[in-house]
Amino acid sequence: MANWLSATLTGKTVWNERLCSVRFTAELPPFEAGQFVNLAYTMGDKQIVRPYSLVNPPGTKEHEILFNLVPEGQLSSWLWTMTQGEQFLCGPRAQGFFTLGHVQPTEDLWLMATGSGLGPYLSMLGTDAPWEKFRQVILVHSVRDHHERAYLDELKALQHRHAGRLRILHTLTREPTWPLRQRIPALIESGLLEMAANTPISAERSHVMLCGNPGMVKGAQALLEVRGLRRHQRFAPGQISTEIY
Ligand SMILES: Cc1cc2nc3c(=O)[nH]c(=O)nc-3n(C[C@H](O)[C@H](O)[C@H](O)COP(=O)(O)OP(=O)(O)OC[C@H]3O[C@@H](n4cnc5c(N)ncnc54)[C@H](O)[C@@H]3O)c2cc1C
Ligand SMILES: NC(=O)c1ccc[n+]([C@@H]2O[C@H](COP(=O)([O-])OP(=O)(O)OC[C@H]3O[C@@H](n4cnc5c(N)ncnc54)[C@H](OP(=O)(O)O)[C@@H]3O)[C@@H](O)[C@H]2O)c1
Repeated sequence: MANWLSATLTGKTVWNERLCSVRFTAELPPFEAGQFVNLAYTMGDKQIVRPYSLVNPPGTKEHEILFNLVPEGQLSSWLWTMTQGEQFLCGPRAQGFFTLGHVQPTEDLWLMATGSGLGPYLSMLGTDAPWEKFRQVILVHSVRDHHERAYLDELKALQHRHAGRLRILHTLTREPTWPLRQRIPALIESGLLEMAANTPISAERSHVMLCGNPGMVKGAQALLEVRGLRRHQRFAPGQISTEIY
């Protein structure tokens, strides 16, 4: 990719042995919440490039990503070992259509994620769009267990700031005693998710965003389509937006 930007790592939060956030500076032009940047490093004569969603809302001085250490993963393993002050390459602009820009206003915005798929929602929740377009926002974060729940303080602060309008549901799929512990598609199929949120999902009142594990995104989308929701496209508005990691 031409015109790579130089990025400098400014901070790091290690949430657990396979989940980490890094903060960095780079002269990125303005972007939309929900977009991703390409990060890269050079190994011999090969350039390794991978996309990562921005966690920070537009307008902040530092940028941030949340990522999993993938076993044998080329870029994530390299990024994991980076330390403060080190430099790397960042694509010249953020990209992607997993944003709220062209989404029609309606009653409820559902933000469903597995693992590091939480990242783009944190960016969106830090902007005005969700609160201007929707009456209620329901964030559903599916993780294995308590140790995988990142950004709890930030989520609490958002709930405080948007009192009564932001509902947060964690499904902890490997915590035998946690009340909500099925995977997202199973929760949709059984109706348990709507029960837990006390809110129905329908084409008339919902917009659903799905981000993260490919199996979760495809499984949830298929079930929502059976319920009459349709994939959202820029020039053909629907109720389901997806980002597959
Ligand atoms: C638009 C977009 C945005 C993304 N944003 C993020 C983000 O914000 N945070 C994030 O963590 N990831 C994100 N990803 C995924 C990310 O780009 C990389 O694919 C991921 O970090 C693995 O890269 P790697 O080079 O470490 O692994 P690779 O060397 O590419 O993969 C090694 C092997 O592991 C498999 N694999 C790939 N990813 C995973 C995984 N996560 N878990 C288990 N096996 C895997 C591959 O199929 C491959 O066989 C995003 C992907 C897309 C398309
Ligand atoms: N591109 C790829 O090849 C690839 C492959 C895997 C993951 N990923 C991405 O890598 C990151 C980590 O993966 P992950 O999110 O699966 O992390 P994870 O930490 O393994 O799982 C997070 C949550 O997703 C659930 N989950 C896993 N697979 C699912 C599926 N097929 N359908 C519904 N829910 C599922 C898990 O449930 P359980 O506890 O029941 O497993 C858990 O609750 C994510 O960002 C993911 O999107 C990419």
